[in-house]
Amino acid sequence: MLQKVAPKGRVYGFDIQQSALESAQDRITNPILRNCLTLFHRSHAEMDEMLPQARHGLVSAVMFNLGYLPGGDKSVITRSESTLAALSAASRLLSPKGIITIVAYPGHAGGAQECEQVRQWCAQLDSGRFEFELIAAKPGDQSAPRLFAVNRKF
Ligand SMILES: C[S@@+](CC[C@H](N)C(=O)[O-])C[C@H]1O[C@@H](n2cnc3c(N)ncnc32)[C@H](O)[C@@H]1O
Repeated sequence: MLQKVAPKGRVYGFDIQQSALESAQDRITNPILRNCLTLFHRSHAEMDEMLPQARHGLVSAVMFNLGYLPGGDKSVITRSESTLAALSAASRLLSPKGIITIVAYPGHAGGAQECEQVRQWCAQLDSGRFEFELIAAKPGDQSAPRLFAVNRKF
């Protein structure tokens, strides 16, 4: 994302685990890219409070990677309640023609329920303004990851 938006754009990242933010930060060695990155040790549910008001309605893309941190504490997972709050915030921040992508993992405890809640959230969006697509990594495999793509039409 940084490579797409630098040097004029900005990427905001959220995680409730400091270690996840640090490993993201460590991967960005190019100072030009680093200057375009803001990481928040906060829940993604707070994204509309944390982003400057001037950016509201101008965000081109919001990407969610749900579940737990690979190699980290598997008990720290995204949870439906805050995920749904974050999705609603993302839909308010999105620019015309913007996109929200959500990778969800039904294979871990609580993951299937979260995945279903995400599907329901996508399905209740105003179809005049948004369209969504669901892509299963392995169709027929209920535990395989899912990609939801939500496009704001205008
Ligand atoms: C699959 S990992 C994704 C890590 C990294 N963002 C990536 O894409 O490689 C899911 C992450 O969600 C984080 N998480 C859990 N609840 C969260 C919340 N309410 N807000 C933001 N991040 C959360 C976990 O700490 C974990 O690092």
